[in-house]
Amino acid sequence: MAKKENLIVGVDIGSHAVKICQLQKTGQTYRLLAVGSAAIPPGAVEDGVLQEPEEVGKAIAALLKNLKIKSTKVGISISGYSVIVKKINLESMDDETLASYIKAEAEQYIPFDLDDVYLDFQKLPSKKEGSDRNDVMLVAAKKEVINDYIDMLTNLKLTTVLVDVDGFALENIWETVSEKIENIALVDIGASKMNINIISEGVSVLARDIVVGSEQLTDQLASALDVDYANAEKVKLGIVPPPPGDEESIERIFNKTCTQWVLEIKKALDLYLANNPEKPIHSIVLSGGGSKVNGLNEYIERETGLRVLAFNPFDKMICDDKTFDPNYLNSIAPEMAIAVGLAIRQADF
Ligand SMILES: Nc1ncnc2c1ncn2[C@@H]1O[C@H](COP(=O)(O)OP(=O)(O)OP(=O)(O)O)[C@@H](O)[C@H]1O
Ligand SMILES: [Mg+2]
Repeated sequence: MAKKENLIVGVDIGSHAVKICQLQKTGQTYRLLAVGSAAIPPGAVEDGVLQEPEEVGKAIAALLKNLKIKSTKVGISISGYSVIVKKINLESMDDETLASYIKAEAEQYIPFDLDDVYLDFQKLPSKKEGSDRNDVMLVAAKKEVINDYIDMLTNLKLTTVLVDVDGFALENIWETVSEKIENIALVDIGASKMNINIISEGVSVLARDIVVGSEQLTDQLASALDVDYANAEKVKLGIVPPPPGDEESIERIFNKTCTQWVLEIKKALDLYLANNPEKPIHSIVLSGGGSKVNGLNEYIERETGLRVLAFNPFDKMICDDKTFDPNYLNSIAPEMAIAVGLAIRQADF
């Protein structure tokens, strides 16, 4: 029998909501044990920085309790200005030499003082056979920002065993659950940022965070309709009907914002294609709560001419219908992608 692997609890702390997922490895696949999300107050997490640790801690503790999660080993991911991900091309060298090279030379690639950051790197698979050079993914993240998250979790008696980057966690879950390797663009639209990650022949070749997201819609609706944030959010989600006479201005807000999102996606695709004309992108895979805007998939399809898929990380997993209502699971699937990407990682390494 395959050895039972302990997996970490994935905790995705977004600017709008905390998402938590726990899985169990069963043979080649995964079983969903627990999944859920809890909103956090606006401003509690801003540009990836934990501004209100107590509020966020409370939301995480309540959600863990609700989901009856006992495991205390958690993994989180970060994004925003405090993390720099950079691909560099270096002469091939063995792992030990590479480690000391990075330690000595990282300063030239990173706009932060090296004393202030945690550094990590990964050699990427070489695409050209016989090449004497290698791409290396360099990641630097501000210690201060990461330590704030770890301290907040320690206060909840949780041990942070993994700190990943949002885009990598997304890539990881996509590669784990998708069958064929094709050239795709992963696009996660959250509340306050959009992450684009283009995967070509199984390797991430272009990754960027852009400061746009579904919160833009809420802000604009709040000022156009002269209502508070909470009510604007309800109008946005269709929970309350738009005030009579305001339908047109609401539609204008949605159109303008979605146009901006698509322009950003197109910019990334164009940049990729300019450098890789012989490797076209087959599909765009959408995740994040913002990707649930009505009609967005079709709009992106029309504008880019590419197939657009809504990412469902639970697609090939074992999800007990009695515990998890399939409709509910489908509806939360897009924003759960990063938490699920963290939850597939092993706790003991
Ligand atoms: N049907 C919908 N239409 C438009 N927006 C939606 C819909 N459903 C959820 N959202 C929005 O998605 C956002 C939450 O998505 P998500 O949980 O992916 O964001 P986050 O991870 O907290 O944010 P970020 O990653 O930007 O920090 C909220 O702004 C919410 O209003
Ligand atoms: Mg997010």
